[in-house]
Order: sequence, then structure tokens, then C-alpha cells
Amino acid sequence: MTKINRREFLKITLITASAAVLVTSGYGFMIEPSWIEITHTSVPIPGLKPSLEGFRLVVIGDIHVGTWISQSHLQNVVDLVNQLDADLIVHTGDFVGMRKTIPYIMAKVTRDESLGFGHSPEAEELFSTCIPLVAKMKSKHGAIAVLGNHEYWVDPAAARKYLRDYGINLLENKSQLVTVDGASLNFAGVGDLWEGTQDLNSAFAGTPSPYEVPRIVISHNPDFADDPQVARSGAVLMLSGHTHGGQVTLPGIGSPLLPIHNKRYASGLVDTDWGYVYISKGIGCTQPAIRIGTRPEIAVLELTAP
Ligand SMILES: [Fe+2]
Repeated sequence: MTKINRREFLKITLITASAAVLVTSGYGFMIEPSWIEITHTSVPIPGLKPSLEGFRLVVIGDIHVGTWISQSHLQNVVDLVNQLDADLIVHTGDFVGMRKTIPYIMAKVTRDESLGFGHSPEAEELFSTCIPLVAKMKSKHGAIAVLGNHEYWVDPAAARKYLRDYGINLLENKSQLVTVDGASLNFAGVGDLWEGTQDLNSAFAGTPSPYEVPRIVISHNPDFADDPQVARSGAVLMLSGHTHGGQVTLPGIGSPLLPIHNKRYASGLVDTDWGYVYISKGIGCTQPAIRIGTRPEIAVLELTAP
């Protein structure tokens, strides 16, 4: 048997490690970001009336048009959603992202409008690419949405205008009842936890009590689940995004890039003291546009009586 010396061993190790990094990053940049997973989760809702049994929410978040998502890729997402027989589409925010990372970070840090914070010259183009396509997602009861931190960063006024013009009901501290055969669900959305305001008292004001109609909260950032006003509101479910599932999830390490305080809220269905939180892994990426171990997600939630 031929023996290898230390120098050859190091050389082989280096070549193997480099090849592994190249293959993994090639996969992370080229394959996984567009490899959409359609997930199905059954969510128990206390007090759910029989006519709402099996009510189907399709949760879409973090599309981030403007980073790398093309119109044809987004059209593919729309086509997939339109095969899912949705009762209601729920958008959890971050429809857009910014192409030019450095000015974008500077604008965010300095909050300087002249650098694009809150009023980016790109925003109109981004929303005009994203919202008309997203509005083609079909469901029996329409679509509702909240804004994500990226909408506030690039141009929240443009986001509000495009959502309104294309018939997507933006719930900024507002609620909407969805009724099937006399039985209802009460959905309330809040502003982004980093950049907006959150007021569930106002959102649910004048609506049926949570004992009569189950309440579902939508917040872009899942950390809002730990705000006492959510438990106080009587909500039984909260829908979120924001995390992208961490974008990179490594065996034995987890997701080192999660942009949240409570790391329990990385993705999927999480049980809390007051009810469930569902965190979508989202469709797009922030920069760098890489996903490893965290495929983009179209989440189908079927509501069921416990
Ligand atoms: Fe996002």
C-alpha cells in the first residue's frame, strides 16, 4: 500500500475542503434559493365553528423583489399558489429589498432620506414589479397584508398605495372579519416591530370578542409574539415571516444569522403560553442571496377545531 506523507495529506485535505465549500456555496447560491417547498400544517383553533373547519390560509412572506427574484420566478410562485385552493392569502411583509447594498445600509444607519431611507427612488419600480403579480394570487376571500421592515426602509407610502390599488387589504393596526356561512375569523395586523407601531387594542376595537370569534394576529416580526398585548388580545394564532428561516441552517450549529431576539421563532409552528405562532421561511433572500438548509416556503395552514 502506498503511504502519503504529511505534505500530501495536507494538500488532499485542502483540496477536499475547498471542493466542499465550492459545492456547498454553489448549491446555496444557485439551487436552494429557487427550490420552493410547499408546506402543509394543521393548526388547532379553539372555538372554530364547523363551517370554518379546514379553512385554508396560504402564507407568503419576504418575497424581496429587488435583490435577485426575477419576474418569471415570482410568476412561478403565483402559479404554485393558484393550485392550492386557498381560502385567504396572508402576506407577512418584506415584498421588496434593495439592490445596492452599501447605500441601503448607509441609509438605514443614518436614516438620511437623501440616501434613500423611507423614500428610495428605486421603490416605485420595485413595488410596480411585485404587487401587480402578487395580486394575481387567487383565493376565495381575497388577500390581507402587513408591511415588513424593508417597506418602511424603502418607501412605506408607495407600499400602501400599491397594495390599495391592487386590492390587497393592508392591516396596519386594523382588523378584518372573514365569514363563512355565518361563522367568522377576526384577523388583525400590526406595523413592523422595528419600524412601525403595534396597537392591537385599536386593531380589534369594535369587533366581536375573542370568545365569540377566534382572533388571528399578523406581525412581520415574530418577536411581537412576546409582547403582552398579543396574549391580552385573546389571539390564538399569530402569522409572521422576517427570519427567512435563518437563510443558512448548519448541522450542529443551527441558524447563526437569525434577526430575532427569541430564537424559538426561527420557522414553522411554535407553541406559546397564549397560542401558536407560525413563522414562514419566506420566498426570497436578503444579501447575500444564499440559502442552505432553509428552502423558500409557500406555507399552507389548515385550521381545525382542537
Ligand atoms: Fe425579509
